[in-house]
Parts: sequence; C-alpha cells; structure tokens
Amino acid sequence: MKTLYLAADHPQTPEIAARIIRSGDLVGIPTETVYGLAANGLDEAAVAKIFEAKGRPQDNPLILHVADAADIEKFCHGIPDAAWVLAEKFWPGPLTMVLPAKDTVPKRTTAGLSTVAVRCPDCAVTREIIRMAGVPIAAPSANISGKPSTTTAEHVRHDHDGRIAAIVDGGPCRVGVESTIIDLTDGQPRLLRPGGITPEQLYQVLGELVVDKAVTAQIDKEAVVKAPGMKYKHYAPQAEVLIVAGSREKAASYIRRYFAPGDRVLCFEEELPLYEGFSPLAYGKEADVNTLSAGLFAALRELDDPAVRKVYARCPEGGGVAYAVQNRLKKAAAFQIVDAEVE
Ligand code: TXA
Ligand code: MG
Repeated sequence: MKTLYLAADHPQTPEIAARIIRSGDLVGIPTETVYGLAANGLDEAAVAKIFEAKGRPQDNPLILHVADAADIEKFCHGIPDAAWVLAEKFWPGPLTMVLPAKDTVPKRTTAGLSTVAVRCPDCAVTREIIRMAGVPIAAPSANISGKPSTTTAEHVRHDHDGRIAAIVDGGPCRVGVESTIIDLTDGQPRLLRPGGITPEQLYQVLGELVVDKAVTAQIDKEAVVKAPGMKYKHYAPQAEVLIVAGSREKAASYIRRYFAPGDRVLCFEEELPLYEGFSPLAYGKEADVNTLSAGLFAALRELDDPAVRKVYARCPEGGGVAYAVQNRLKKAAAFQIVDAEVE
C-alpha cells in the first residue's frame, strides 16, 4: 500500500482523510498530545486493523475521539455531572474520560469492557476529519506497541510507511505526552494516567481524586486493572533505562563514574556542560517542564537504537505536567531508579 501524505493546512485534507476513515482504512492523525492511528471507531473490521498495525494486545481498549462534547451522549450512558463540568472546562484538550459505554460502541473498541474512554482533541484538523467522517475515531498513539509514542508525522512514517492509507502532518505535538485519563465510573474519580491536564487541575474542579496504583508502580501482567494498557511494557527504547535522581552535581558524578562505551545520558539542557564527552541528549529545559513533555518521546525514540547499551536518565521533580513526564520516564525505565545522593 502506498501511504498518502497530507498537509494539515491543505483545504482538502479533512475531506480526503474522512473518506479514508469511512472506507475502513487507517490514517495517522495529529493531536495536541501525540499522533494517533485512527480508524472508524464504530467499524469492528477497521478497528481490528489498528490492533494489527500496532501489534497491540487485544485486551487493551481504544479511546474514542469526538469532535464535540455533546457527541459523547451517543456512546455513553449514565454520564455524571462531573463529566460535563470537566468537558466544559478542559475540552477540546488533553483529557480522556472513562464512562459507561452504550451498545453503539463495538466490543473491539472497548476490548470487551462495559466502559469506554472518550476525548475531544485540541486539534482543529482532526476534529474536522471526525466531523466530516460522521463517526467517532478510535485512535491509540500511533507507535508500534511498547515503543515510545509518536510526536511527529515523521515518527508515524517510520513506524507505518506503506502499511497505512494516509498520514496527516500537523507538525510536532504541543503537549508531547498522551492525554490524562480519568475514570468516572466508580464512585470516586480515579486518575488512570497523568498527562497535560494535571492532577491539581482535576482536584480543583472535582474536590476529590484517587490516583490509581498503575500510575505509580509496575503492574503485574496477570493483574485485573482499571487501565488495561498500564500493565504492559511501555515507551521503552531497546536499551535498559536507569533514572538517576539527586542534585545535578551528584547525578553527574554518579553517571560519569559508571558510564561505559555505548551508554547514553538523557538529561536537561541546563546539564549539558556536565556531560561533555559523554554523548548527552537533552530533551528539554528543566526550568520549563512543557519543553520536557514535548521533547521526551522524540528523545526516547532517538535512543531506541541497538547500538545503545544503557540510558542514564534525568527526571524532573514535582507535580503538574512534571508528574506526567515522571510517569512516562519511570515506565520506560521499568521503575529502575537510583538515588545519586546516597550512592
Ligand atoms: O493523548 C491520547 O490519549 C492519545 C491520542 C492519540 O489521543 N491516545 C492514546 O491512546 O494515548 P493509547 O491507546 O495509546 O492509550 C489509551 C489508554 C490505554 O492505556 C488504555 O488501556 C486506556 O487508555 N483505556 C482505553 N479505554 C479504557 C477504558 N474503557 N477503561 C480504562 N482504560 C481505558
Ligand atoms: Mg499508547
């Protein structure tokens, strides 16, 4: 199959992409978080193609993307007031809500669950594609399963060229980590995945928030969990990743001590001078966490190279968006962290 490349700002792009979606094929689409691999979310056969293209485990459900908040009524029932309040405040934007699913949503999309994850992305071209297609689109991050997510059209080309019908190029993603996921089906609102909408922002609106254990620790493969995707290996380059915590100086002296040929250092721009001769790769500025979230996956993809032996990574501290960056980096590191202050 020859993959069609479509510029997001070309006037015909929404129409062409929508036609492909309606015909049951896959399109790589930009969003403000990461690029998605999109199909008609109501078409079982089209959704099956997503699982096949990504090599995604069948028990891992997909997010249904809508163009307008009002559309969730077609796919969800028993929608609590909190969902409308959150949609009003944060949509379009990087927030996904898990709600009770109506029978209109195929079991393939929800991986057999009675709930469905819905989100309205903050990306005009993608909302226009959804509107023109006249169906919600199911879209996971476009990366091959287990690998770092796709934050540019080039990343999607790398993983899927010749295997999907089209890719819409909307430039690099602004947020860079996937949407925040909140489960609203279970009494207390539960954070399943941190992202661009922060726990603090959610708490401020809801007055309560439980953080699911999948956010903070490695989950056993056999476990029954709220967010099925959380138990799988994620975001990881081929090499082992080790997070080195502690002050800049202590971390640098630890890394320089253990550094071996083939190793790489993933650090903040401010730290580059500390790693001269140690092939450092900066993913953003520690002083501006949005540059870290925007740059993390591109950096992890660059390090996904058989020549890399081990990655020593620096991780931002604190809440807000840093919480999401910590979550992705810890998962990439399979929660391996060493504290340079006590080593
Ligand atoms: O930012 C995003 O959310 C991106 C863009 C493309 O919108 N999409 C994305 O999809 O990250 P994906 O498939 O890579 O991650 C979706 C996560 C998975 O961990 C999945 O298990 C979880 O959402 N999920 C989907 N439906 C769910 C449900 N009904 N209940 C609990 N978790 C669900
Ligand atoms: Mg993903």
